Amino acid sequence: MHKVRVNLGKRSYQIVIGGGIFYQLGAYLKKLDIGTDAFIITNAFLKNKYGAKLLQVLSGNGFNCHFKLVADSEKTKSIETASLVIKELAKFDQKKKVFIIAFGGGVVGDLAGFVASVYKRGINYVQIPTTLLAQVDSAIGGKTAVDLDLGKNLVGAFYQPRLVFSEINFLKSLDIMQVRCGMAEVIKYAVIKDQKLFSFLENKYQKVVQRNPATLETIIHACSRIKAGIVYRDEKETLGLRSILNFGHTIGHAIEAAGGYKSYNHGQAVSLGMIVAVDLSKRLGLIDTQSALRIRNLIKLYGLPIKIKGVSAAKIIRAHYHDKKFSGKENKFVLIGGIGKPRIVRNIKLDLIKEAICGAFFALPVSG
Ligand SMILES: NC(=O)c1ccc[n+]([C@@H]2O[C@H](COP(=O)([O-])OP(=O)(O)OC[C@H]3O[C@@H](n4cnc5c(N)ncnc54)[C@H](O)[C@@H]3O)[C@@H](O)[C@H]2O)c1
Ligand SMILES: [Zn+2]
Repeated sequence: MHKVRVNLGKRSYQIVIGGGIFYQLGAYLKKLDIGTDAFIITNAFLKNKYGAKLLQVLSGNGFNCHFKLVADSEKTKSIETASLVIKELAKFDQKKKVFIIAFGGGVVGDLAGFVASVYKRGINYVQIPTTLLAQVDSAIGGKTAVDLDLGKNLVGAFYQPRLVFSEINFLKSLDIMQVRCGMAEVIKYAVIKDQKLFSFLENKYQKVVQRNPATLETIIHACSRIKAGIVYRDEKETLGLRSILNFGHTIGHAIEAAGGYKSYNHGQAVSLGMIVAVDLSKRLGLIDTQSALRIRNLIKLYGLPIKIKGVSAAKIIRAHYHDKKFSGKENKFVLIGGIGKPRIVRNIKLDLIKEAICGAFFALPVSG
């Protein structure tokens, strides 16, 4: 078992990571003095698979529980669903000391965190992430959100959980696509911050796909430490430090949007975004060919795409441009000067960005 502290003064909390730690959840919650009545937000699949166990652990420790099921889809991250959840929460919350448990992947986590942040101006909540992506990324750091038709994550708040409880055994039931999707974020962390993790990933592909608990624990621990460290230094992304977590995401988001959120899932789009970012880094003379190749090979090793297919370059460029215009932000990219060396570069010429995007159609990024 590993523990990582997210150090934020009075709002500090622990991330607990391990295989077979689930039975200890009740004791952790009791110690936090978090409330007595758990409003558990999850989906039907997860309730069927793990609900009885969760209920047993919680009621065995004297907690009163209520499950609120939401649909298993990104569409669940909406104001409409949040409103329904809040109404049910208010009904449940009669003469109780209620707290929320987010039991699921990033969709459930973002929605539950958002509800916790606005209900009665903020109540306690706990993240129990069940996907690799949620364990290494979305459950940590207090970014909560729902989507609007106009764009993803447009309504939300920074609102920290009281505990993140990452039970690795939950990952056994994830399908391989979800594991790969999470691995894209893991590769992102290794590239921006951790040479040791990068080498570890180069050697452990088989163990990862076999969901080897010790291997996954090492990975989730490393990523949790990186994210906790960044959140500690720049909780609300005001200093620009937290933005290094967007490595691969600027163009990744444009690829996701250009494909109508159907051609590529988030992890695949981020992988392609990383390929473009590495190419830009190379064109600007920031990174050497060998490091660039290692990054490309690692992305490929984990079954993630390194070549864009089926989405037009023009659409990606338009989506990128629209995103910048929409957010009113200057053109700012997270590039790299080598493995573990992030570099923020501003005002890159549009032509260069276009060339790098077009290069990714031929997997050129690191070949020349
Ligand atoms: N808040 C943040 O900082 C942050 C960071 C990154 C991503 N996100 C958000 O996270 C969301 C994506 O999260 P995700 O990738 O976890 O997707 P998800 O929550 O949709 O989960 C993916 C799928 O896996 C299933 N699932 C979950 N746990 C499972 C398990 N143990 N076994 C089998 N199946 C399981 C889910 O039911 C779902 O079908 C996006 O909405 C994204 O915007 C937020
Ligand atoms: Zn991401």
